[in-house]
This record gives sequence, structure tokens and C-alpha cells, in this order.
Amino acid sequence: MVSKEGHRSKIIKKFDINEPKFQKLVRNFDEIFWDINQGYAMDFIGWLKVFRLGTISTLKRLSVDIRQFINDEIINGHKDSIDYENPRDFVDMLLKRMKTEEGGHEQISEVTALYELEDFIGGHSAVGNIIMQTITQIARNPEVMAKIQEELDSQVGDRQLSLDDRTSLPYTESTMYEALRICSSPIVPHVASCDSNVGGYDVRKGTMVFINNYELNMSPQLWSEPERFDPARFVRGGKVVKPPHFLPFSTGKRSCMGSKMLTNVTFPHRGHGAVKIRRALPRGRCQLADGGGTHASRQSGSACRLVQAGLPGADRSVDILSVSQPET
Ligand code: HEM
Repeated sequence: MVSKEGHRSKIIKKFDINEPKFQKLVRNFDEIFWDINQGYAMDFIGWLKVFRLGTISTLKRLSVDIRQFINDEIINGHKDSIDYENPRDFVDMLLKRMKTEEGGHEQISEVTALYELEDFIGGHSAVGNIIMQTITQIARNPEVMAKIQEELDSQVGDRQLSLDDRTSLPYTESTMYEALRICSSPIVPHVASCDSNVGGYDVRKGTMVFINNYELNMSPQLWSEPERFDPARFVRGGKVVKPPHFLPFSTGKRSCMGSKMLTNVTFPHRGHGAVKIRRALPRGRCQLADGGGTHASRQSGSACRLVQAGLPGADRSVDILSVSQPET
């Protein structure tokens, strides 16, 4: 990859997915996201946390382990070989901003840099989980599978699927939005930075504000048959159209930084994943053994399985990870 300044970025370190330390990092992120996305009463009634002190201390321990990994395995390696004039990647850019005050750049603290990095690395958890949520919904709904196959046959045929195909595959593209709608992950709470008024309600500075994402996604006043998985609700005139009340990535300055990357990275899985499941499950529907939100899953390791229902030998299962790879 070449940056605006013409520097070619290199991979400074690549982790082996079988490396135990790396697997522990992935598991730690999954555990944390799973817990914070449950939407407990404690999130808005602070004193209830006395009942969850054990879990809170476990989460703190996992965060400390994550920070140690990032310092030892990522930051230190970069610090040893960095050339501040020629940053190679995002980590070098953060280190440069930590170091320089000159040149008109605002300096950032080490804690801010670590938060930024952890937010980005933690994003992997959401990528894996939304792929699984989408493929699970596709597998549960044979009519959706069939429509994806139809769209792929007519627009792509036998050639390799590419990112340029996204615009000509609105139905396939919409399956992810529909999975995001059905999951309705809770959105990070915000705090009003000044006295304000929202929809006629006075909101004092310092008040915690939650977006009720479930209501936005599942209200019968906003959607027809909200319980039904129907990607077609996002397709209008051959294009993907998202209604203004659909805010899975929140809105405003602090909305999700990874949303564009997410839609690109997960695109091939929606197409080829669906086709592979269709071949693996010629008839019958699937049900997911366990639930979870977009960030919220303990299943992204090997445990996530789709249990086939309505097929002879209902105990047979399809490992969802084996159907999530694009075909070559
Ligand atoms: C299913 C996938 C995802 C969903 C539903 C999601 C949703 C969200 C939401 C609701 C927020 C909070 C916005 C707010 O506070 O108003 C957020 C923030 C953020 N997300 Fe995501 N996200 C996803 C994937 C990702 C990925 C893959 C990355 C990065 C690789 C990422 C990076 C971030 C970052 C850095 C922020 C913090 C932005 C800020 O505070 O300014 N997200 N995301």
C-alpha cells in the first residue's frame, strides 16, 4: 500500500493465528465485547454494580492482559525500528504524534494512542461476529439464500466476486444491514457536554444519553414485520437505501470509524458464504445453537456451530467457519 506521501507501508509483524498469545488476545477481546454488549441495568443504574464486582474485576484483568500484549508485541517492536520521518503504518503515525509538538501537529498522550490502537484492533471481534450473524441468518432463511444465489448468478456468473460488484448486488449487500438490524447491538452511551434539548426534552450537561437501538430497529411503527429477516426492505429501485432511523454505527462525530472497512471486508462472505451453505444444506432450515449481538459473541473461536434442523440426523452440524471463506 502506498500512502499520500508516497511511502510504501510494510507489514512489520504478522501474527500466526495458531500462536497461543495471539489467540488469547482474540479471546480476551471477545469476552470483553460479549459482556459490555449485553446491556445490563447496571449500565444506567450505577449502584447495581455492587452485584457484578466479580465480573468487573475479570474484565479489568482481561484489559490489562490486552494492554500488555499491545505494548510488548506491537508498540515496543515499532519503537525499536521507527524512522519518524518515514512512518510505515498506523502505529508509527501514532508514535510520531506522541513524540512531535513541532510541525503544527497536536501531540497525543500515550494513553490516547493506546486507546485508539485498542479500538482498532478490537474491531476484529465485530468483523468475525457480524460475518457469523449474517451467515447464520442466511442459513436460517432458505428463501434469502436462493435470492442471493439468483443475484450472483445473474450479475457475477462464474467469475471471481470482486468489491466492484457491491453496487450491482444490492440484495446480497443488504443482508448485512438486515443482520445488523435484527441483532440490535446496544450503542455506547454518551454524556451531554452542554445543556441541550432533544425532541422537546431538556437534557442537562453531564446527563448520560442512550440511543434505544432496539426500538429504532424493531419498532412496528418504523418497519413492516420487524421480526422477519428480509434484506429486501433495504433495496429500493435496485439500490441499497437505509432509512434515517437505521443507525447501527451511531451518528455524528463519534460514529463508528470502522464501518466502511467492515462493509468491504465482509462483502465476499455474504456472497460466497451463502452459496456454500446452500450447497451444504440442500433442504431444511438452520438454527443457531446460541445467540449474540454484533460484537457480542463468545463463539467466534471454533465453538460456533449451526445446527441443522429438519434434516435427517438433526444432530449433524455445519461448522460456520468452514463456510465463511470465499471460494477460489
Ligand atoms: C458490526 C460491526 C460494528 C458495529 C455495529 C459498530 C458500531 C459502533 C458504534 C455504535 C460505535 C459508537 C459510536 C458512538 O459512540 O456514537 C462505534 C465506535 C467505534 N468503532 Fe465500531 N462498529 C463495528 C465495527 C468496527 C470495526 C471493524 C472497527 C475498526 C476496525 C471499528 C472501530 C470503531 C472505533 C475506532 C470507534 C470509536 C469512534 C470514536 O469514539 O470516535 N468498529 N462502533
